[in-house]
Amino acid sequence: MSDQAPAVTYRLVVVPGDGIGPEVISGGRRVLEAAGRVFGFGIEWTEVKVGGVAIDAYGVGVRDEDVDRCAAADAVYFGAIGDPRFNDPKAKVRPEQALLRLRKDLCLYANLRPVTVQPCLVASSPVRESLVAGVDLMIVRELTGGIYFGKPSEQRVTPAGREVVDTLTYTEHEIRRVVKLGFELARGRRKKLTSVDKANVLESSRLWRTIVEEVRPDYPDVTVEHRLVDACAMALIQRPAQFDVMVMENLFGDILSDEASVLAGSLGMLPSASLGERRTAHGLFGLYEPIHGSAPDIAGKDIANPLATILSGAMMLRWSLGKAAVAQAIEAAVAATLADGYRTPDLVAATGDQPGQRKVGTQAMADAVVAALEAGAKGGQR
Ligand code: IPM
Ligand code: MG
Repeated sequence: MSDQAPAVTYRLVVVPGDGIGPEVISGGRRVLEAAGRVFGFGIEWTEVKVGGVAIDAYGVGVRDEDVDRCAAADAVYFGAIGDPRFNDPKAKVRPEQALLRLRKDLCLYANLRPVTVQPCLVASSPVRESLVAGVDLMIVRELTGGIYFGKPSEQRVTPAGREVVDTLTYTEHEIRRVVKLGFELARGRRKKLTSVDKANVLESSRLWRTIVEEVRPDYPDVTVEHRLVDACAMALIQRPAQFDVMVMENLFGDILSDEASVLAGSLGMLPSASLGERRTAHGLFGLYEPIHGSAPDIAGKDIANPLATILSGAMMLRWSLGKAAVAQAIEAAVAATLADGYRTPDLVAATGDQPGQRKVGTQAMADAVVAALEAGAKGGQR
């Protein structure tokens, strides 16, 4: 197919960002380009700076025109942002604000974080093998509301000293749309929905729980349970395989998804999709990023794991580009690469040296996935 003009060309914005972002995105791009050659589609990339690199270049975390570029694309492929140079609590501009602005301005209200455990990585998890085997869950995190965005959010000085406020607000509409998406996803999977809240303390959680109950009759085929977030954090380690789809507000989702990543052996394995309501010519508009951050301590060393970014590319093909079969081929190529023993340092750590393991860096791992993808397409053995 490679010598024919591609049947379709997708318009993607790519945001390498800070820290390890550029390295993992470089690997991810090569896998997507290879998928295009093998399956006959083209990609037109527009690269934009967001995060610390944008603060350096333009003085802001993201420029208005770059938000517009993202909005006009079929999807956004995102690396990571965050830079310790901006960690000063008094800093006025922070890279993270740019990511929050993109999520908000692009109306990406739902963040899908699937957690699956690759059979050959079961031993890489610090959690006992018998517990992590068979884990296949999906965290649906509300992404544009809650305490991340509520106003006021500020420090004040009062006669009694400093005082601080963050505000947790949700409208009924914001809760209902993400809860409905949770039900829809559960319907397409094992038909179990866990709604996570803190209804014994928070008013916002009590409305959340009420709305889950209001939506529930529309999905009689889905089993629903409510869990308090603290107990749920415990159950996620004690009996993770019981969970299917888990829906929760923004901050709870941020926390529990990092916890859940431990099950998969490494934060470097987990992809994500941030979706909104807008349809493009090919699917739902979305932003795709690994859930790990910019990891400045290992940046520029070619040791970061690119698989979360590569798997985020697969999610992009599935959700935004209407190419579920190609997404599956990439996921299969990742599984084959791991089965062949390729390991970035984060995946080696828990198990130590084992026979058959090949320690590789970021780019070699991505190249191995490209090779597996090409071999898989030929139906060949490597
Ligand atoms: C995530 C990250 C972000 C968040 C940070 C970088 C703002 O932790 O995507 O989980 O808190 O949402
Ligand atoms: Mg997080």
